[in-house]
Amino acid sequence: MILETSKESEEELEPLSLLDPRPILERVDTPAPELTPSPSLAAPDSPPMVEFLSVNLTYPNGVQALKDVNLMVRKGEFVFLVGSTGSGKSSLLKMLHRELEPTTGAVYVDRQDVGELKKRQIPYLRRKLGVVFQDFRILPQKTAYENVAFALEVTGTPPSAIRPRVRRALEMVGLSEKSHRLPGEMSGGEQQRVAIARALVNNPILLIGDEPTGNLDPDTSWDIMQTLSQINASGTTVLVATHNQQIVDVMRKRVLVMQRGELLRDDERGMYYEVKN
Ligand SMILES: Nc1ncnc2c1ncn2[C@@H]1O[C@H](COP(=O)(O)OP(=O)(O)OP(=O)(O)O)[C@@H](O)[C@H]1O
Ligand SMILES: [Mg+2]
Repeated sequence: MILETSKESEEELEPLSLLDPRPILERVDTPAPELTPSPSLAAPDSPPMVEFLSVNLTYPNGVQALKDVNLMVRKGEFVFLVGSTGSGKSSLLKMLHRELEPTTGAVYVDRQDVGELKKRQIPYLRRKLGVVFQDFRILPQKTAYENVAFALEVTGTPPSAIRPRVRRALEMVGLSEKSHRLPGEMSGGEQQRVAIARALVNNPILLIGDEPTGNLDPDTSWDIMQTLSQINASGTTVLVATHNQQIVDVMRKRVLVMQRGELLRDDERGMYYEVKN
């Protein structure tokens, strides 16, 4: 078991812009905040982080999950992906870390054609990405600290570098005090924070969330989305699939709307879009 025992001076760590405790969003049960558009971090000429070029995906059972999807997400953007169940959101996200390959078309991440990667190159792509799922997927027998450290151990990070990086990631998600807890001793929201810290600890260029608040209550969902927004404010591109209409409507980020495998809409500072079938 890895135990976090030594105390390092905080000066060793970079200042934490993400530690600002002030909420950037009001809670859903209070009147909605004024919707003054927040400046987008992504300048119009930021380099592309994600590109889909005429992407089609047909599963072996014949389901056509994605149909001629074209999109570009620039470095520094925060983008919501919405659409009814089965519309293709998870399928689209899975292509980013090459869990799935397009049947036709091409997917680029950080200007790299993901489909061109050799098998042995895929881990290097995945190291550049952080992924957070609805069901957290943290290891139940490892503490919060160990779960996050594990992500560095498997990438061969020198042991001396592991502790400060894990501490910083746990600090970013507000879990410093609970680093020794096992998942079974934490709330769902705290477990999801562990998953976010684990996704962050490799300094990903792109953070992907597939319904990261799907199992959480409304207040906790706000906290998690707020954390993702703060991570975005520090420069990481964020792409999140969600069914949470209230959060999408208040945050006023870019919204991509999927319908039956097609990209139906792409709205800057969009609202949740209910697709009538
Ligand atoms: N492994 C698979 N094999 C065959 N068909 C699949 C597979 N995974 C998903 N599908 C089908 O592909 C389509 C898109 O599914 P996907 O999981 O991408 O939707 P989604 O938008 O993420 O839905 P949800 O909001 O419920 O998570 C659906 O028709 C689904 O049934
Ligand atoms: Mg899904």
